[in-house]
Amino acid sequence: MTAPENKSAQTLAALGVRQPDQLAPLFAEIRARFDADIAAVHDEKAWKQFRDAWLGRKSGVLTQITDNWLKPATPELKRVVGQELNKLRAYVEAQIEARRVAVEAGADESALARERVDLSLPGVTRPIGSHHLIRQVFQQIEDIFVSIGFSVVEGPEIETPYYNFEALNIPEFHPVRDDMDTFYIELPKGAPSPLLLRTHTSPMQIRTMEKRRPPVRVIVPGKVYRRDNPDATHSFAFHQVEGLAVDTDITFCDFTGTIEYFVKQFFGPGVKTRFRPSYFPFTEPSVEFDVTCVFCGGSGVSTGGGTCSKCKGAGWIELFGAGMVDPAVYGFVKYDPKKVSGFAFGIGIDRLAMLKYSIDDIQVFFQNDVRFLRQFP
Ligand code: PHE
Repeated sequence: MTAPENKSAQTLAALGVRQPDQLAPLFAEIRARFDADIAAVHDEKAWKQFRDAWLGRKSGVLTQITDNWLKPATPELKRVVGQELNKLRAYVEAQIEARRVAVEAGADESALARERVDLSLPGVTRPIGSHHLIRQVFQQIEDIFVSIGFSVVEGPEIETPYYNFEALNIPEFHPVRDDMDTFYIELPKGAPSPLLLRTHTSPMQIRTMEKRRPPVRVIVPGKVYRRDNPDATHSFAFHQVEGLAVDTDITFCDFTGTIEYFVKQFFGPGVKTRFRPSYFPFTEPSVEFDVTCVFCGGSGVSTGGGTCSKCKGAGWIELFGAGMVDPAVYGFVKYDPKKVSGFAFGIGIDRLAMLKYSIDDIQVFFQNDVRFLRQFP
């Protein structure tokens, strides 16, 4: 902004103005100066300075004109100076007010422009992760069993020997306790019962039957623990899904039919199942379920022509243990073994997942390497 009109700081006499008709051009000059300067006012701070320069009481241009031109004017000029000054004042005041409105609106507009949300910009992607493969396999198994009338229950990972062993017909000093090297919890002296990390999900058979009367149809997904040294097929923590069906008329056929249905749903209709006699203290008879090798299709021969390394040429892969519930178990839960019958199974999830997804090292489930996890979105 240029300095306020110097001419207003001088008297008319000093400016050489003697005739009334010299006044109109002089005021026009002032107004032109005003117009030029106001065009440069764009923000509130500049507007305030500008207003004070023109309308300020002490030294604004209009005050100067009043003091230097009007007051000392000859009677001849005074009337016209007064008229011109009034016109100029009205003009200046109106323009400055209009400018204020414009500057304020402009400020609003630029704030809006600054804060505008551009909906065409690409969004911010926040990775939400995915389920761990083990969790996904749990889910697949749950879906299959839920679809045939089972419900899902969960139980504690810290168990008492009663639920983990005794009530499953595994008395103290029974040799199978050695197969399940067990982690015991260190407890303060005088604790009422020893506690252990469950070695299988079977304790939930007992807890479920204690709470429910037949018919019972549940599966129990969960973590289990055994004192194993870690290698490609062993881990001290792994996963099982227990299954239990007890009713008044459940037969061995229901049992094998159910298992076969599950295996075909899980691995695909091409696989075959078979069972072999086995032993568990809480099932009688007990079986081991095998499935035709998913790698060589049951031929025992690998695609390269050699012996299939996964089933070692057998064509079959051992899947899980199962059996008809041993009548002795019913005694612990006050079911009448003469009236009820049922079957139970315990599926090793890690092994199942390894077979289905061709994973050759169980440890990858626990290392949480994102390069592995991302392969199963
Ligand atoms: N609990 C057994 C295990 O972990 C598996 C099993 C469950 C066997 C139910 C029979 C019936 O080895």
